[in-house]
Amino acid sequence: MKSVLVRKSEQAFDLICDEIASDKSISHRCAIFSLLSDQASKIDRYLLGEDTLNSLNIAAQLGADIKRVASSVTITPPSSLKEPKDILDCGNAGTAIRLYSGFLSSLEGMYILTGDAYLKARPMSRVVEPLREIGAIIDGRENGRLAPLYIRGSKLQSFRYHSPVDSAQVKSALILAALRSNGTCYYKENLLSRDHTERMLVGMGANIKKDEDGWIAIKPLKKPLKPLELTVPADPSSAFFFALAAAITPRSKIIIKDVSLNKTRIGAYKVLKKMGADIEYELKEDKYEPIGDITVTYNGKLKAIEVSSKIAWLIDELPALAVAMAFAEGTSVVSNAKELRVKESDRITSVITNLKKCGIVCEESEDGYSITGGDIHYATVDSYGDHRVAMSFAIAGIFSGMKIDDIDCIDTSFPNFFDILSKITRLEF
Ligand code: S3P
Repeated sequence: MKSVLVRKSEQAFDLICDEIASDKSISHRCAIFSLLSDQASKIDRYLLGEDTLNSLNIAAQLGADIKRVASSVTITPPSSLKEPKDILDCGNAGTAIRLYSGFLSSLEGMYILTGDAYLKARPMSRVVEPLREIGAIIDGRENGRLAPLYIRGSKLQSFRYHSPVDSAQVKSALILAALRSNGTCYYKENLLSRDHTERMLVGMGANIKKDEDGWIAIKPLKKPLKPLELTVPADPSSAFFFALAAAITPRSKIIIKDVSLNKTRIGAYKVLKKMGADIEYELKEDKYEPIGDITVTYNGKLKAIEVSSKIAWLIDELPALAVAMAFAEGTSVVSNAKELRVKESDRITSVITNLKKCGIVCEESEDGYSITGGDIHYATVDSYGDHRVAMSFAIAGIFSGMKIDDIDCIDTSFPNFFDILSKITRLEF
C-alpha cells in the first residue's frame, strides 16, 4: 500500500496547466459508443487511467480492434460484436459497469461484469431493476443488487421511465438499452445529470430529443452510427483539485487549459466562486462539448456556504469542496447529498473522519455534513480506496503537511496528479 507525504508549502504559485487528466466520463463513453458504429472512431487525449483503460479492454474483448499510440486511440468495431471468452473486469469504474449493463442487455450472448472490492459494494439495482422491467435477463449477487452481474442478451421492450435518482450512469444505461429496443423510449430525471451521452450520441447521428417537460425521447437505431472523432477535453473534476489549491493559497493563480465547460460539470466552480475565489471562464470551442480555459485566482479567505441544490452538478467535487469549507470562515452545510454515500467510498464518512483527524470541527448528517472552518493541522489520513478523497487531502496538505495512505487509487482517474502537485509543493513517497 503506497503512501505520500505532502510537505507544507510556503510559496505562492502561478501556473498555466495543460496537463490535467482527460475527462473520465467522456473517455468511457468513447470506448463504449464507438461499438455502435461500423467504422473506426478516432479519439485523441483518451484518458489513460485504470478505469477508462478497463472500458477499452472490454471493447476489445467484445471484438473491437484497438490501436493506441500514447493517448491517441483508434477503435475499429468488428462486423458483429462477439461474446467474450472471459469475464469483463470494470475495476473501480461505476460508469463502466452501469453503461455496459445497458449496452449488453440487448446483445446476443452471455456476459459477466465485475470489478474490484469497492465496485462490488456499490448498488447496481438502480440499473438492474429498470432493465429487468423492459425484458433484460440480468442478475447478480443479492438478487442483482451487487456485482458481479450476469447478463444474457435478449430482446428489449420500449419504455417510459421517470428515474428516482439523478444519475448519468443510470440515464446512459437506459439510453443504450433504448437504442436497441423495439420502439421509441422515454426517459426523465428530476435534475439534468451530466449529458455527455446525449451530446455524443446525437453527434454520432442517434435520434435523441428532449421535450419541454424534460422527457428524453430515444428512437431505436435503424443503422450503425457515424464514428466518433474527438479530442477529449481536460476533466473539470480532476482540474478542481488545483482550482482548490489556488483558491486557498495566498497570491496564487492557475489557468486550467482546454477543460469541459459543460454546465452539468462546473457546479463546484460556481460554489467556490460564491465562497470568494476569483474564477473566470473563456469558451474556446463547442463541438460535442463547450471547451475552454478556467482561471482561478486567490481572492482572500474563503467564506462558508450552504449547498443543497443541483447536487448532481457537483457530486464528484464535494470531497474537495469539503476541504475548501475547512479553510473557510464560518460553518458550511451540505445537504441533499446522500448519493455521496454510494460513490467509490462512503464519501460523507471518509471526508468527515479525515477532517476530524486534521482537527476540524465537523459533523456527518444522513445526507451531507457541516464543517466549521479552522486551523487544519498535519495528520495521517486514509483514502478509503477513493481517488477523490486521496487527492482532496493531498491538496489540504499544501497548507499543513499531510500523510495520505493508500494512494494507488489515484491512478484510476489522474495518473499524473503528483507530477502537477510537485510543481506546487514537495512530496515524499
Ligand atoms: C458519471 C456519473 C456520476 C459521477 C461519476 C461519473 C458518468 O455518477 O459521479 O463519477 O460518467 O456518468 P452518477 O451518474 O451515478 O451520479
